[in-house]
Amino acid sequence: MPDLQMRRLGRTGLEVVAIGLGAMDTPHSPEATATVHAAIDAGMNFIDTARDYAGSEYLLGQVIRERGRLDFHVATKTFARSADGAQRDVDRSLSVLGVEVIDLYQLHDISTPDAWERSIDEDSGALAGLRIAQLRGLVRHIGVSTHNLEVLRLIIESDAFDTVMVDYSAFAPESAALIEAAHERDLGVIVMRPVGGSGRTSVMRGQIDRGEAGPLTPANLLRYVLSHPGASVAIPGARYPSRVRENIDTLADFMPMPVEEQRGIEAAARAFDAS
Ligand SMILES: NC(=O)c1ccc[n+]([C@@H]2O[C@H](COP(=O)([O-])OP(=O)(O)OC[C@H]3O[C@@H](n4cnc5c(N)ncnc54)[C@H](OP(=O)(O)O)[C@@H]3O)[C@@H](O)[C@H]2O)c1
Repeated sequence: MPDLQMRRLGRTGLEVVAIGLGAMDTPHSPEATATVHAAIDAGMNFIDTARDYAGSEYLLGQVIRERGRLDFHVATKTFARSADGAQRDVDRSLSVLGVEVIDLYQLHDISTPDAWERSIDEDSGALAGLRIAQLRGLVRHIGVSTHNLEVLRLIIESDAFDTVMVDYSAFAPESAALIEAAHERDLGVIVMRPVGGSGRTSVMRGQIDRGEAGPLTPANLLRYVLSHPGASVAIPGARYPSRVRENIDTLADFMPMPVEEQRGIEAAARAFDAS
C-alpha cells in the first residue's frame, strides 16, 4: 500500500487518512459492499454516514460484520433537534452498525439559526442528548454539519463541538476563511462535496471522456481541497470501487496545489456553473 497522508482530526486526536469515503449514495449501487470494502482495503480509515442516508448505516453494518471487525473510524449523524430524539438515534445507529461505540456523532445539517438555537438548548437540544450518549460511553466525539456560513461562524465561536463538516471545493471556495478559523480553534474539518456533487461530476465525466474537461477533474478538485491546510479529511462520495481507488491514487501522489493553479481551477468551476 502506498504511503498515504494522515491528518489529525482536530481536537478529536484521531489520525485520519486525508481522503475518506462519503457513504451517502454508496448504497444506491450494485457494487455497494464492494465499494466500501475497496475503500478500506485501499487505506481509507474514515467513513461518513447518517441515520438519514437511506440504507447507508445498514451497508456499513453489513461490511463491519463481513470483516469481523471495525477497522475504520465511523462518523454518523442525526437529524433530530431534541435531546430525546438524538439519544434514540444513537441507540438505533449502534444497533444497525453493530458496534459498541461510535467515533463521531454529528448534528446533521444545522443550516438555519432556528435549527441552531433548538439544537444547542442546554436542556432539551440534540447537543445535550449527544453529550449524555458521550457520558454513557456510546459516542466518542461530537460534531456538526452545516451548509450555512453564518451558522458555521456560530459553531466555531461556540467551542461546543469537536468537528465541523462543511461544503468546500473549487465550486464553493467561499468557505476557505472559516475553515482556517475552525482549524485555529482545533476543530476537525471534514469537507463534504469536495468534487462538487454528483450532478456536476456526471457532466464532468462526459467531458473527460470527450477530452474536453480542462482542469476540472476529480483528481484536481481533490488536490484543491487538500491544499487547504485546515482541511482534515475530504469525503468524496462513491458508488464504485474504481472511484475510491482513483481517489486514493490522487492522495498517494498529492503535492499541494500552487495558488495560481487554485485560482485557475476556481475560474474553470465558475465557467462550468455558468455554462
Ligand atoms: N451533512 C450534509 O448535510 C451533507 C450533504 C451532502 C453530502 N454530505 C457528505 O459528503 C459526501 C460527499 O458528498 P456528495 O456525494 O454529495 O458530493 P461529492 O463527493 O462532491 O461528489 C460525489 C460524486 O463524485 C463522483 N466521484 C467521486 N470520485 C470520483 C472519481 N474519482 N472519478 C469520477 N467520479 C467520482 C461520484 O460518482 P459515483 O457516485 O458514480 O461513484 C459521485 O457522483 C456524502 O457522501 C456525505 O457523506 C453531507
